[in-house]
Amino acid sequence: MSIVSTTLPGGTWTLGDRPVTRFGYGAMQLAGPGVMGPPADRDGALAVLREAVDLGITHIDTSDAYGPRVTNALIRDALHPYTDSLNIVTKVGATRDAHGGWPIARQPEDLRRQVRENLDSLGLDALGVVNLRLGDAGGTVQEPIAEAFGTLVELQREGTIRHLGVSNATPEQVREARAIAPIVSVQNMYNLAVRHDDELIDELARDGVAYVPFFPLGGFTPLQSSTLFAVAERLRTTPMAVALGWLLQRSPNILLIPGTTSVAHLRENVAGAGIPLSAEDLGELDRIAAD
Ligand SMILES: NC(=O)c1ccc[n+]([C@@H]2O[C@H](COP(=O)([O-])OP(=O)(O)OC[C@H]3O[C@@H](n4cnc5c(N)ncnc54)[C@H](OP(=O)(O)O)[C@@H]3O)[C@@H](O)[C@H]2O)c1
Repeated sequence: MSIVSTTLPGGTWTLGDRPVTRFGYGAMQLAGPGVMGPPADRDGALAVLREAVDLGITHIDTSDAYGPRVTNALIRDALHPYTDSLNIVTKVGATRDAHGGWPIARQPEDLRRQVRENLDSLGLDALGVVNLRLGDAGGTVQEPIAEAFGTLVELQREGTIRHLGVSNATPEQVREARAIAPIVSVQNMYNLAVRHDDELIDELARDGVAYVPFFPLGGFTPLQSSTLFAVAERLRTTPMAVALGWLLQRSPNILLIPGTTSVAHLRENVAGAGIPLSAEDLGELDRIAAD
C-alpha cells in the first residue's frame, strides 16, 4: 500500500504496480440514455474526459458494454495517445441486447472476445486492470466463478491483461478469486446508504487490495437523505462533496469513480471531496444506512 499526496483529494493508491489518484472518474454515463447509444452532447462528453485528465485524474473506469462501444470510443477520441500516468480500468462479463439489457456473457469465448473488443476500442496492446463482472443486472448472485476467472488468468498469462479484479461480487466470490490468483481491486455497489460491504472493505484494506465503490453518489437515483443534506448545509458544501469525502475518509483502499456528464460538476466534486469530516459529522453520516 502507498499513499502520497497529490493535488487531488485523497492522494494516490498503488493499483497493481502503478500509482492512481484515489479520485478517479467513472465514464459509464457518458453514453446515451440507459447507457445505450451515443451521447446527446458528444463535444461535452469529450470535454469532461479531457478535463478529468487536466485536473490530474489518472484512473478512468469504463467498459465496452457502455453504449456498447460508445464510452470506450469517446475515451480513445478524447485521450489517445494516452499519457503514461493514465490507468484505464475496464470490465468484462456482460454484453448488451437490443432493449438495453445486460445479458451475462462469461463463457471463455465470450470473455476472450470482450477483452479483444476492449483492446480494439481503447486502442491498447494490453489492458491495465480488467474486472470480471459477476452477478446480473439485479445485483450479486452466489455462484461459482472458477471457470470465468480462470479464463482471465489465462489472458493475463498471455499478456493482454496486466492485473485482475472482480465486480458485483459477494465476499465469498472475492475469496474464491483470490484463492485462484491475486486481484488488485473489487468494484461493488457501496455508498453512504448501501453498506453491505463494510467488513469486506476492511478485510481488503488489510491486504492492500483496492475497493472501488460503484454508484458512489447513488447512481441513477441520486442519494436522498435529509441527514446528508443537513451535514452538507452545516459545512457549507454540497451533498456530493460530503458523500465523496466520507468515502475517502472511510478507508485508504477506497478509490472513487464518480460519474458526471458535466465539466462543472466534475470540478465541483474534485474541489469538494477533500472536506474534513469531524467525528460528529461521521457519527451522523454513519446512521444514514441504518435508518
Ligand atoms: N461494476 C459495475 O457493475 C458498475 C455498475 C454501475 C456503474 N459502474 C461504474 O461506476 C461509475 C459511477 O457510477 P454512476 O456514474 O452511474 O453513478 P454515480 O457516480 O453514483 O452518480 C452519477 C450521477 O451523479 C450526478 N452528479 C455527479 N456530480 C454531481 C454534482 N456535483 N451535482 C449534481 N449531480 C452530480 C451525475 O449527473 P451529471 O451528469 O448531471 O453530473 C450522475 O447522474 C460508472 O461510471 C461506472 O464506471 C460499475
